[in-house]
Amino acid sequence: MSAFTGITVDREALIANYATVSERVAPAGVIAVVKANAYGHGAVDAARAFVDAGAEWLGVADVDEGIALRRAGIDEGVRILAWLHAPDEDFRRAAQYDVTPAVSSVSQLAAAADSEVPAVHVCVDTGLSRNGAVESEWAELFATAGRIARSGGRTRVEGLMSHLSNASLADDLDQDAALQRALDGLAANGIVPDVVHLAASAGSIAVPETRHDAARVGLALYGLSPFADRTSADLGLRPAMRVTAAVLRTVPVAAGEGVSYGYTWRAATDTRLAVIGLGYADGFDRDLGNRVSVRIGDRTFPVVGRVAMNAMHIDIGDADVRVGDEVVLWGDPADGDPAVEDWAAAVDTINYEVVARVGRSVERRTT
Ligand SMILES: Cc1ncc(COP(=O)(O)O)c(C=O)c1O
Repeated sequence: MSAFTGITVDREALIANYATVSERVAPAGVIAVVKANAYGHGAVDAARAFVDAGAEWLGVADVDEGIALRRAGIDEGVRILAWLHAPDEDFRRAAQYDVTPAVSSVSQLAAAADSEVPAVHVCVDTGLSRNGAVESEWAELFATAGRIARSGGRTRVEGLMSHLSNASLADDLDQDAALQRALDGLAANGIVPDVVHLAASAGSIAVPETRHDAARVGLALYGLSPFADRTSADLGLRPAMRVTAAVLRTVPVAAGEGVSYGYTWRAATDTRLAVIGLGYADGFDRDLGNRVSVRIGDRTFPVVGRVAMNAMHIDIGDADVRVGDEVVLWGDPADGDPAVEDWAAAVDTINYEVVARVGRSVERRTT
């Protein structure tokens, strides 16, 4: 039987990671971040796993992602927070699907209140310069929040959030101090939010001061480490994503022959190549060739030549590798699989980007 080409997500690992992270950040809660198709792991199945593990909150980038989860059956007992909105976002959709918007401006706050969204979180910028109101905008935003809270309308200002830049401990603590100023500013307008949240994976693990009421955790729940100097195993996490492909064919090449576009690799001796059907159209960087290795059986073999649009080549030498055999691109190093961090380092990026970029063209199954 031919091996599975695609992503296998280990649901038990997601559940175990949720428990590990929850324990670590307690008494703070966890907002399980499932944006960007759960960092490539499949949003609906990942969300279900986290909910089964006890998650009461899910975090997504935008209202559309939240609506997709509701439509897939994530019921209203589970809160969904969305923090990045289109300029013309219609918050009536958020109200209809019970997606809680984090609002970054007076106009978003007013639009959410006009749409009778039951709850909003105020999103402030404390140094990331992305979404979130900047400090010079706080006075007007908090005053508006105070008026809305006193108006007797449907919308409650439930939370306050910001996001860390992970630049350094000192920068994180500066951001935390800025969050405290925002809390003071809200309090001066009569608002004491129930749910204050700042840290994501890195902050919540490394800087306990930033945990507040909840940590918005993505990467660590997928079993990956946000730190260059600490592995998943060091953090007690299990990488949940395993990427495999079936060998489509094997090709003999003679010493000196070039392989794939541009001949960035030439066979030093007579050898054989295994071809798999994953390429840059599926989110695998074109430059990965000659820089990473895969596992076949209990051996590792290098990926050689340029990664093509739909294929890559593996130098298998004289190993007994056949059409249909399983090639493991990355998985859990504790099981002997290559680490996604090696694939990230090969093209000078981070594990986040590599997992999130595996395209929707790649089949996913959760086991
Ligand atoms: C606002 C916000 N919160 C939380 C997260 C989760 O971050 P991490 O995956 O580092 O836990 C993200 C992801 O980038 C984010 O944008």
